[in-house]
Amino acid sequence: MLSLPRPPEMFDREREWRDLSAFVTDPATGGTLGVVSGRRRQGKTFLLRALCQATGGFYFAADEATDRESLNRLGAVLADHLGAPAPLAFDTWHPAVDALLALGRERRIPVVIDEFPYLVRANAQLPSIVQNALAPLRAERDTSRTSLLLCGSAMSFMGRLLSGNAPLRGRAGFELVVPTLDHQLAARELLSIDPADTYLVVEHEYPPARIQDKARLAPILKGSLAFAKAIDEAAAAMFALQHEVMAAQGIPIQGKGREAYRS
Ligand SMILES: Nc1ncnc2c1ncn2[C@@H]1O[C@H](COP(=O)(O)OP(=O)(O)O)[C@@H](O)[C@H]1O
Ligand SMILES: [Mg+2]
Repeated sequence: MLSLPRPPEMFDREREWRDLSAFVTDPATGGTLGVVSGRRRQGKTFLLRALCQATGGFYFAADEATDRESLNRLGAVLADHLGAPAPLAFDTWHPAVDALLALGRERRIPVVIDEFPYLVRANAQLPSIVQNALAPLRAERDTSRTSLLLCGSAMSFMGRLLSGNAPLRGRAGFELVVPTLDHQLAARELLSIDPADTYLVVEHEYPPARIQDKARLAPILKGSLAFAKAIDEAAAAMFALQHEVMAAQGIPIQGKGREAYRS
């Protein structure tokens, strides 16, 4: 299966990129559905926009608007994407979703609806409309190679989308939860440290450190690295005391102690 080239500015997210690439390059025919969720500011939009850029896919970010406004804006953005002279006019979501399926008539492409929960808040029927549009043996689905990706940050909402007897359950062939970035990885990326000889234990979850803005993150991590390094050295000393010094004297130890984290 084709793996799309990773954008050079993308940090980490190898697994997520690989899984998304596989989903949107699946050679089989038929429209498919995927759901992407994760807390806010973890990089969902970043991943999905990059995916659309890499493949010539279609990206639409919903906002907190009325159903009518969203349909109008989708029609305008779609017309832009297709090079149509005037906005496409959709009276309801049925033709709108079919227009998204038609985007994949020639080849497989990702079609992203970001902030999907906003749309459902304005129109609770939307999940079942998508469900019906993607029904097996439906011509619009069978002749399409659209990989429709619905994305949202409202975790409980996105979870409910696929749970129990929710309409979309059973339709989604792909589900991706974008997890919080590993802050130790982030530290290695953002600070000029040599992982081979750096004790690096940032054990606390410091929320501001999750702000993925290098300039703001670096000083926070610098401070916590010095602190973590001191704790880690103490842990290493304790570990050596338990496992080498006491063991050499035949003194039994309780517990295992914690090894210094080095990787
Ligand atoms: N893997 C990454 N590499 C580089 N920058 C990233 C990465 N993931 C997210 N970002 C940046 O972090 C910020 C938040 O990401 P965003 O995609 O808006 O999150 P979400 O859609 O999950 O709320 C953006 O400025 C984005 O460019
Ligand atoms: Mg987003």
